[in-house]
Amino acid sequence: MHSLRERLLAQLLTAEGFVSGAEISQKLDISRGAVWKHIQALRREGFVITGSTRRGYRILSVPDLLLPSVILPVLTSDFGRPYYFYQTVSSTNDVVRELAYAGAPQGAVVAAEEQTGGRGRRGRSWYSPRGGLWFSLLLRPQVSPAQSQTLPLFVSLMVVKGIEKLLGITLDLKWPNDILLGGRKTGGVLVELGAEAEQVHYAVAGIGINVNVTSFPPELEKEATSLGIYAGRRVDRARLLAGILSSIETGYPCWCREGFAPFREAYKGRLSFLGRQITVRTAGGEVLTGIAADVDTDGRLLLSSPAGKQRWLHGGEVKVREGILI
Ligand code: BTN
Repeated sequence: MHSLRERLLAQLLTAEGFVSGAEISQKLDISRGAVWKHIQALRREGFVITGSTRRGYRILSVPDLLLPSVILPVLTSDFGRPYYFYQTVSSTNDVVRELAYAGAPQGAVVAAEEQTGGRGRRGRSWYSPRGGLWFSLLLRPQVSPAQSQTLPLFVSLMVVKGIEKLLGITLDLKWPNDILLGGRKTGGVLVELGAEAEQVHYAVAGIGINVNVTSFPPELEKEATSLGIYAGRRVDRARLLAGILSSIETGYPCWCREGFAPFREAYKGRLSFLGRQITVRTAGGEVLTGIAADVDTDGRLLLSSPAGKQRWLHGGEVKVREGILI
């Protein structure tokens, strides 16, 4: 269901030039005065709209913010509805978890311009300044907790596909769910589950992409980059968010039905280190070195040692040897 504001914006955004107040009022079935009030509200949000009594209204620029009024008109999926926006929040994953408890539907999204307590995997903090894309998606998959282990891998693949489709660039993945550009970290996925032994109640898929972040703190400088730095221009975050949500939504029914198997080859095709010697710090803290040989349908990484020993790993942190640390 599109709100009046969304429909008004859609009309202005798709028009070639000016749209008259009379035309808007007729299409939306509201008075000319009500049209004017909506226009004023949009201007207060940062839309630059020129108006002339003779010709009507025309949008000159859209604010570079993830406001509902900016996102909803470009959204092509059901994922993203309902949509909640914050200027500053501690972590969008926390807000979505609260929404999940309160009974929010699958597809609900929370996005923020900045996070003060952004979280990464393995208890690390996640640098989340303005200019990035920090959001969380609520999913309610009717799958076993075992299958849900592959959700982070599936989501990271679909995020990569969404970015690639919009920007026409090629990204890599680092097992299990780091997103890389030219060997540097550009994004990550943090899935947090609400589950019991037999049943998943909800999953919060937290997605962080360095989009127009222009600088990083010293400890991240060498290993991080952003889409904007790589592309050499500002990237439209609203269209990126819409594209990523649509990409996840497209693959999601298949993942729910069939698990990771149908996505495994595409995922492996984007793994930057497959067939190379790597060092992995396992979830249990062990440090192992070997050849990254495969990823199976359960999302496990196969590490084989030169002596022919094989270990299937569930989670961990990969470092690639030969002097390159990714
Ligand atoms: C990682 O690579 O360690 C995962 C990073 C995930 C960051 C995102 S940003 C939106 C959401 N909110 C959080 O606090 N974390 C995730």
